[in-house]
Amino acid sequence: MSSSNKIFFGDNLRVLESLPSNSVNLIYIDPPFNTGRRQVRISMSVDRDDQGDRKGFGGYKYLTKVLGKLSFDDIYDDYLAFLEPRLREAHRVLTANGALYFHIDYREVHYCKILLDSIFGRDNFLNEIIWAYDYGGRSKRKWPTKHDNILYYVKDRNNYVFNADEIDRLPYMAPSLVGGDKAKLGKLPTDVWWQTIVSPTGKEKTGYPTQKPLAILERIIRASSCPGDIVLDFFAGSGTTGVAAHKLGRSFILVDNNEEAIRVMRSRFRDVPVEFITLEDYKYEDKAV
Ligand SMILES: C[S@@+](CC[C@H](N)C(=O)[O-])C[C@H]1O[C@@H](n2cnc3c(N)ncnc32)[C@H](O)[C@@H]1O
Repeated sequence: MSSSNKIFFGDNLRVLESLPSNSVNLIYIDPPFNTGRRQVRISMSVDRDDQGDRKGFGGYKYLTKVLGKLSFDDIYDDYLAFLEPRLREAHRVLTANGALYFHIDYREVHYCKILLDSIFGRDNFLNEIIWAYDYGGRSKRKWPTKHDNILYYVKDRNNYVFNADEIDRLPYMAPSLVGGDKAKLGKLPTDVWWQTIVSPTGKEKTGYPTQKPLAILERIIRASSCPGDIVLDFFAGSGTTGVAAHKLGRSFILVDNNEEAIRVMRSRFRDVPVEFITLEDYKYEDKAV
């Protein structure tokens, strides 16, 4: 079935490369931390030498010497090397007034911020949203970590969508102090969002381990896109972004390279028109979730 909603099973870099430039209004991603790939970086010196092994600039010969191999445990370099081409593609496929929300944990956020600044431009960084929750055990050896970070970038800070009037409102802490209509309307959320995690026993739960709350995605999609727009999540997991987009009248493109995620999404979108596309080299086996 052909539909404007699409779910791809395969590597997201290949899918991104196949999407036209300026075609997606909003991107939300929640990449996994450890990609499981390890890189070996070889450092070399290249000097002009008549006995050299390479011909180079000006027709001169150059001698290359391997100075050392760094099989780096520096997992951050590995991770950023994985993310960088995907984020460059994300920037390319966004419309001129598009936005990216990048969800990450407190240990990686600083490295990712520097990478994203270099791709989107520092001026186009608008917010670091703190998603605060209050669930699970509490360490007694440091401050219990109970938040995730969401970096919000736009392609152009002079031209972007931000529908302040569409955003869900929160009750004032002291409504009697603001009074009347203002109290009834509630207040706009700030860059700190209190939202409980997907309850392991609640009805929102799909069983996918890293599933994010629908309420977070709904808030992002309401604020940063319009009905009829296209929302992309290329680390889709259980498809939360697609569920929120569909509910709010947007189309979606989702990508995941894990068969289990595709199974969960097939079940989650069983009543929604979606075109499922499996990339070459991937094989989907239908099993119950
Ligand atoms: C943290 S989960 C996303 C969870 C999602 N936000 C949700 O609410 O369910 C990250 C997802 O990225 C997928 N992934 C990792 N590397 C990928 C790649 N190269 N291409 C496509 N998907 C990838 C994983 O399979 C995983 O499902």
